[in-house]
Amino acid sequence: MSEILALNGSYRSGGVTDQVVETMTGVLRDAGVSVETILLREYPLEFCLNCRHCTRQPGAAPGRCVLDDAMGDLLGRIESSRGYILASPTNFGGVTALFKRFMERLIVYAYWPREMSAPRYRKAGAVKKKAVLVSSCAAPAILGRFSFHTRQELKAAAKTIGAVPVGTIFTGLVGGDPHPELSKRVKARAGRLAAKLV
Ligand SMILES: Cc1cc2nc3c(=O)[nH]c(=O)nc-3n(C[C@H](O)[C@H](O)[C@H](O)COP(=O)(O)O)c2cc1C
Repeated sequence: MSEILALNGSYRSGGVTDQVVETMTGVLRDAGVSVETILLREYPLEFCLNCRHCTRQPGAAPGRCVLDDAMGDLLGRIESSRGYILASPTNFGGVTALFKRFMERLIVYAYWPREMSAPRYRKAGAVKKKAVLVSSCAAPAILGRFSFHTRQELKAAAKTIGAVPVGTIFTGLVGGDPHPELSKRVKARAGRLAAKLV
């Protein structure tokens, strides 16, 4: 199990999201930190069934899901890591469907029996871990960061697993290039943010 876990919801191999995440994980490895990247596109997850079985179980640990798929393994990795890189491109103003499907499965982190109108976060009282949020979009970065939902969604994922965001990197104007390459400035920023996880 690794110290830092990167969860990447990009569909594209070698795209902007992959490159930002790889820059960060490279910096962390160079600093002697063990890192693992989960490419959600290679991780077979079912959709949440909204059966609420997991949400009825009390306690701080994630509730047990009725689905017997890779999420069980992923939860073990999430639980044992002390920090996260949460990454997704911006599609239609929010995280990709791939990342959203993963997020919905994080409902195991909510205690929410049917008689309660709102969920209680199991990790609300826990010592907070750190998370860096990563996204990209075709629009200018400033618009992406403040007018799309992506950052809020990544933040919600961080909160659910008991982490507090220590930084966000939003790379803009990336829509046109089929083989994008990160600028030195973006790489440097990604490196600085990764260092915040140490
Ligand atoms: C289905 C789809 C929807 C998209 N929606 C938006 C959007 O709403 N706003 C935006 O600025 N860019 C949008 N984009 C551009 C992506 O954000 C951009 O291609 C992506 O950040 C690149 O990430 P990647 O290199 O990791 O694939 C969209 C792209 C696709 C394929």
